[in-house]
Amino acid sequence: MIIALDGPSAAGKGTLARRLAAHFDLAHLDTGSLYRAVGGRVLREGGDPADAAHAIAAASALSEADRLAADLRTEPVSQAASKVAAIPEVRVKLLDFQRDFAHHPPGGRTGAILDGRDIGTVICPDADVKLFITASLEARAERRFRELQAAGAAPIKRAVLEEMTLRDRRDSERQAAPLKPARDAFVLDTSDLDADAVFAAAVEHISERTRSRRA
Ligand code: DC
Repeated sequence: MIIALDGPSAAGKGTLARRLAAHFDLAHLDTGSLYRAVGGRVLREGGDPADAAHAIAAASALSEADRLAADLRTEPVSQAASKVAAIPEVRVKLLDFQRDFAHHPPGGRTGAILDGRDIGTVICPDADVKLFITASLEARAERRFRELQAAGAAPIKRAVLEEMTLRDRRDSERQAAPLKPARDAFVLDTSDLDADAVFAAAVEHISERTRSRRA
């Protein structure tokens, strides 16, 4: 079973993907971490993430250390990830790894869940289930604000909202694999739902889909 889980930042994809992976015993790949690893590597090398040649070289040389870098979730790396992700050749470099993970999941698992922006549209258009998790910009910015506070930072609400607006725009308006729901995706707006309600709705949809496929 392959599950594609797409959506904008802070819509709750990560939490949902981890819970679904545990529930259905699937391997999980957070594909955003690949773009973060590329963006972070370019920054560490003193480059500009919008410089295509540098970003492509970083994507080609990506190491385990880049994927485990301590600053992967910081705001500068988030913005850098969104910039390198707009470069078509960077996306091509990361394509085989993602498809291979989906079709040959590690750990002896019989299925995989991949979360990102283009899993249902480009990486796994043949996925058994496609979920698109979204929420209003305000709800997502509020969640990110609370996450940062919980992590001990002192975020500024307006700055969080501005940074999210910028990243949303870049991820949705780019030419290469822009963020959008696949035509056959189940779209779930999580603005007024907590994590348990989102999980329950996703499990119900996946169970329905797999039942109707078997029938
Ligand atoms: O999901 P995330 O916030 O960790 O992703 C970081 C950036 O990577 C995001 O701004 C857009 C890009 N990305 C992408 O273009 N395609 C994916 N499948 C996953 C992430």
